[in-house]
Amino acid sequence: MTRILVLGGTGWLGAEIVRAALAEGADVTCLARGESGTVPDGARHVRADRRELSAYDTVLDNWDEVIELASDPALVRPALDALAPLARHWTLVSSVSVYARNDEPGADESAALVSCDDLGEYPAAKVAAEQASALALSDRLLVARPGLIVGPGDPSDRFGYWPARFGRSGPVLVPETDGRYVQVIDVADLAAWIAAAAAAGTTGFFNAVGEAYPFRDVIDHLKTASASDLELVAVNDEALRAAGVNYWAGPRSLPLWLPREDTAFARRDGSAFRAAGGTLRPLADTIARVREDEFSRGLFRQRRSGLTPDEEAAVLGAPR
Ligand SMILES: NC(=O)c1ccc[n+]([C@@H]2O[C@H](COP(=O)([O-])OP(=O)(O)OC[C@H]3O[C@@H](n4cnc5c(N)ncnc54)[C@H](OP(=O)(O)O)[C@@H]3O)[C@@H](O)[C@H]2O)c1
Repeated sequence: MTRILVLGGTGWLGAEIVRAALAEGADVTCLARGESGTVPDGARHVRADRRELSAYDTVLDNWDEVIELASDPALVRPALDALAPLARHWTLVSSVSVYARNDEPGADESAALVSCDDLGEYPAAKVAAEQASALALSDRLLVARPGLIVGPGDPSDRFGYWPARFGRSGPVLVPETDGRYVQVIDVADLAAWIAAAAAAGTTGFFNAVGEAYPFRDVIDHLKTASASDLELVAVNDEALRAAGVNYWAGPRSLPLWLPREDTAFARRDGSAFRAAGGTLRPLADTIARVREDEFSRGLFRQRRSGLTPDEEAAVLGAPR
């Protein structure tokens, strides 16, 4: 039986990877504090704080696979020191945020990376994690660079804003969509690929990204899914910014809306991922899954990303 050590497994993606690996018949151990959540049923939980020197003492064993979900170099490096010699294969979950430029549509894995000057910044920390892992593991390493991960339970509340918004009534504020794209990967597709690629011993660097859909097509899918004929009100970038609406994510944002100069962030090349067995469910399936989740959690709940109904109404009512 394949023995897998997941460094994490209590977070949203990590738990999904654990479930995918268990479904493939693997024996899974998760090393985490347990602060982010619980380990899925069927996996073993070794409780440890990876900032402690003794964190890895109880897992110093030969592993078929180690899957690393952390970004912080203070966690990543000691794990490599302790476990890289003991692992047959290692998967690092990185991010497309490692890339220096977001203005080259179709850029592949050879695109330039950000510099590692400030490891407190997420992209630099991910690059440092990639470099340290490559040094320690060379041809035993798989680096998955996911784009925006979406699906039921997404703690960032980004993609879910839209199915939830189309579930409510009233005119819908949207950005101008021409020339804009949305590129997401369903958490279940990503987890299934990571579990399968680990089992197959796949190595190298992969943009784990979905198809790049024109933003307009995503809106059409959302309308179809909600079977609604809601009025759409497109507001230009200048007016949205003047009204204090933020790009991409977080409070008072229009999620997935990117500055024009960063449009290619949502147009990365995913052909290597698909050639390595990555499969992508239709966008309509992901929307249906997220819509069901949003309805069950409540369409008016407090969110980490998006406009509240009052904020949206205020922007729509503002002179433009
Ligand atoms: N969301 C996206 O769209 C997106 C896009 C690209 C890449 N990613 C990457 O996808 C991954 C997401 O992972 P995730 O959802 O499973 O969760 P996560 O919130 O990123 O947490 C990672 C894991 O690290 C553990 N951890 C943190 N500090 C620790 C410590 N001091 N000691 C021991 N364990 C510690 C956490 O467990 P405990 O807190 O329980 O200890 C958790 O299980 C990350 O690598 C992220 O960078 C995300």
